[in-house]
Amino acid sequence: MYLPVPGQDLGCSADLVRRPALDLVAVSPDGGIAAFCICWLGASPGRPPRGQIEPLGVAPAYRRSGLGRAILEEGLRRLGSHGAEEVFVETDSYRNAAYGLYESVGFRVIRDVLVFRKNYAG
Ligand SMILES: CC(C)(COP(=O)(O)OP(=O)(O)OC[C@H]1O[C@@H](n2cnc3c(N)ncnc32)[C@H](O)[C@@H]1OP(=O)(O)O)[C@@H](O)C(=O)NCCC(=O)NCCS
Repeated sequence: MYLPVPGQDLGCSADLVRRPALDLVAVSPDGGIAAFCICWLGASPGRPPRGQIEPLGVAPAYRRSGLGRAILEEGLRRLGSHGAEEVFVETDSYRNAAYGLYESVGFRVIRDVLVFRKNYAG
């Protein structure tokens, strides 16, 4: 959703690497998973180091209490400390909660993706 360098492409790509320090999990008092935010780092020749958020989620029982924003902001902080100069996330326009969350921390839409469907069932 966010691209400060005009003209560059975006999205998941083969050069994204996983770093365990960028796998964030919030554990609930009963030991379950309350939230998770997995961040990826990528670097290609001629491009600034970048991060990608994928996936991010908060368990339904813990939504609307600030956990999503908190774990996302920690992910962004860690990506920044690993050198990321820009961070991407892909989501769908029907996901109002995700859309609102990303916008609330400063992401901006840079491209819409069209999804086509062909029905073979007659
Ligand atoms: C998106 C999601 C992670 C938000 O988590 P959350 O903990 O409920 O979010 P927060 O409480 O931190 O809310 C932060 C901001 O997000 C936005 N937001 C959250 N839920 C929203 C909703 N249901 N409708 C509209 N905006 C919403 C608001 O801007 C909110 O700020 P505010 O509370 O000051 O209004 C959570 O709804 C979720 O896991 N959804 C299903 C999985 C998903 O869509 N993941 C993202 C895929 S890319």
